[in-house]
Parts: sequence; structure tokens; C-alpha cells
Amino acid sequence: MSFQFANRVNKIPPYLFAEIEEKVRVKKAQGVDIIDFGIGDPDLPTPAPIVEELRKHVLDPENHNYPSSAGEPETRQAVADFYKKRFDVDIDPRGQVCILLGSKEGLANIARAFVNPGEKVLCPDPAYPVYAQGATTLCDAVPVRVPLSPEHNFQIEDSPGILDRTAKMLYLNYPNNPTGACVSKEYLIGLYQWCVQTQTVMVYDNAYSELTFGDYSAPSILEVGDEGVIEFGSLSKTFNMTGYRLGYAVGDANLITGLKKVKSQIDSGAPKFVQKAAAFALEQYKGREQPKMVRDNMRIFEERRDIMVRGLRSMGFKVDLPKGTFYLWFRVDGSSMRFADRMLNEAGVVVTPGVGFGQGGEGFIRMALTQSSARIEEALGRMEKVLRK
Ligand SMILES: Cc1ncc(COP(=O)(O)O)c(C=O)c1O
Repeated sequence: MSFQFANRVNKIPPYLFAEIEEKVRVKKAQGVDIIDFGIGDPDLPTPAPIVEELRKHVLDPENHNYPSSAGEPETRQAVADFYKKRFDVDIDPRGQVCILLGSKEGLANIARAFVNPGEKVLCPDPAYPVYAQGATTLCDAVPVRVPLSPEHNFQIEDSPGILDRTAKMLYLNYPNNPTGACVSKEYLIGLYQWCVQTQTVMVYDNAYSELTFGDYSAPSILEVGDEGVIEFGSLSKTFNMTGYRLGYAVGDANLITGLKKVKSQIDSGAPKFVQKAAAFALEQYKGREQPKMVRDNMRIFEERRDIMVRGLRSMGFKVDLPKGTFYLWFRVDGSSMRFADRMLNEAGVVVTPGVGFGQGGEGFIRMALTQSSARIEEALGRMEKVLRK
């Protein structure tokens, strides 16, 4: 027996990344040595003190039962303390924090809480696909494309004049996946005021706030204001904890209440031992600066970034040196899918075609800095050989 998918599921386009994964699997099965820059999943381990903390808590039977779905009080407190130290923002840990099973589900569930069928949601393009699909389409709502172009440094053009005032929600993400673009606090003020004036919920995805280089420190939207704003953060990339599934939402108490209400009907919270390890990780922040464990990580990504940018530039690509994220984003001639296929088939190198992040990403390639410097050098050599053909 076979059932039709629900209409809303049929509207979800084929998942390009699953297709690429399958092509890579076939190549690997053929014995090809693949160098994978596709997925934004750090290759570096979780810092040892965090793993040790997790081990301690996982052994304690006190942590083996259901957690609270909004998050354990000490983890919510750790998030509030982090916001105070890192952004100098005061947060009520009871009313303004919700702990998540990774920020991805929160980014989708917040729309469930506030967006009705048929309402419009402003989604940057290119972007993390969850905004337009998991959040909007799966709520029977309508994604409205907000183009991000290199001419405007992948910020909203003439912000915020071009935005549809009738939309219910706006997604924003800086430091940005896939483009690596970063913004200043000043840039966010206009968008925040526009959202307040037009009564648009602002969903600020700050999953990469800690993945920054040099003197650049990414702002929180909550430094600008918290009226009608919800910000999402994640331990995934900051502490190489993608597999632990731990994120948080912080912001307007009304929005947090809606999110908690949805989640209380869907999940039963992140495991207590993971939440306690996460609280320990966030407590490493003593001020605005990255703690040593994050800084050490970022030095590695910085070295890789510099090698990769130098190599790509020497092949003739115009690549910016991003101030944040561990992604490089650059234009290629012709179809991004064709370029990605060619690199896979002829060089054994996996890159992500920009079109996977929306039509606005067509013509671009994303590479995640999730391979060692030696493997990056190897990949660059292979790519150059293919391109010279
Ligand atoms: C922009 C952005 N937001 C959110 C996430 C979700 O991260 P997680 O669910 O691991 O917290 C990702 C993951 O790649 C991302 O790129």
C-alpha cells in the first residue's frame, strides 16, 4: 500500500543535499578518495572538558528521566548569563529562554506558533532552506523571496524598503550561511524598527555568532531591542557539538511562550545530561571575547580559510575573505550544479552548488572549511588540474 504525501509535503522541492550525498556514496563505494567540503559539520572534536562534563552527567541516574520541555532551569540560566556577558543584554531565564533540540527545530516551530495558513513569510534567498520550507511551506504559508546579492554584500537591498509590509514574519541570518556575510549592529537597527512598525515577527538566526575571525564580533539583535524579536543560537558550531542537538531561543516573552506551547505538544526536551554539558560550555564565556576553546578552534578555521582563499584566487575565482562562519562562497561560470558535478566526478572533491540554497544562489558555490589544511591543499591541487583541462 502506498499513501499520497500531504499537499504541503509535496510542495517541498527535492532535497538537493540528499541527492549529492547519494552521488558521494556511490563514488566512495567505487573506492574514490573523496574530499568533502559539502556539509557544515565541523570535523574537529568537541573540546575535551565539555565531553568530560557530559560523561559526569550521563552517569548520574538523576539525569535519565524526562527533562522539562522548555529547558532545565540551570541551562536557561546559563543562556541568560551568556547573553549578559557576551552581549550585555538582560534576559529573564524563566520567561525569555527556551532550550531546543538544536536550533533547526526551533526555527521551524516558531512559525507553527505564529504563522497561519496563507500568510506570508519573508525568506532571504539564498538561505538556510529551513526558513522557506520547514518553517513556511510546512505551515501552509507562503514564502516571499528577499534577494541577497553580492552587490549589496548579501544584505537586504536598500533595507528595509523592499520588504512586503503585509508579511507575518521575517527570517534573518548573520553571520550568514551560505554567503559568509556579516553585519554591524547599526545595520540591524533599521530592520528592527521596520519590523516593530509593521508588526512583523523578526526571527534572527544567530547560529554562527561565535564563529568569527580577528576583531569582528557578531552582534545579537537583542542588543538593538527585543520587541517582537526572537533570536536563535546553537552550540553546534561554536563548540563542535552538532551531534548533541542543543540550541536555544531567546527574546520577546510572548514569542517564547508561543514556541514553548508548540514544543510542549511535540517533543519532551533535550536530554538533561546534554543540557548540563551545554550549560558548562556556555559558562566558559567570561566576557565578550571568545573563550580559549572557541578561539583555538577559530584559529584552525582561519588558517584553513586563508589557504583555501589563496588557492581559489590563484585559480581565478573572486573570493571574499569572510569575517564569520566557516563557509566560502564564490561565483563560477554557468550552472552551480554542473560545476559541483564536475568537481565530484573529475577531482573527487565535494562542493555545494549554491542553487541548493535557493534560486538566488545559482551561479555560486559554497565550500565548508571542514577538512584539514593538508586535505585542503590536496583538493586545491586536484581542482586546479581539472580546471586547467
Ligand atoms: C543558518 C543555520 N541556522 C541554523 C542551523 C541549525 O543548527 P542546529 O540545529 O545544529 O543548531 C544551521 C545548520 O547548519 C544553519 O546553517
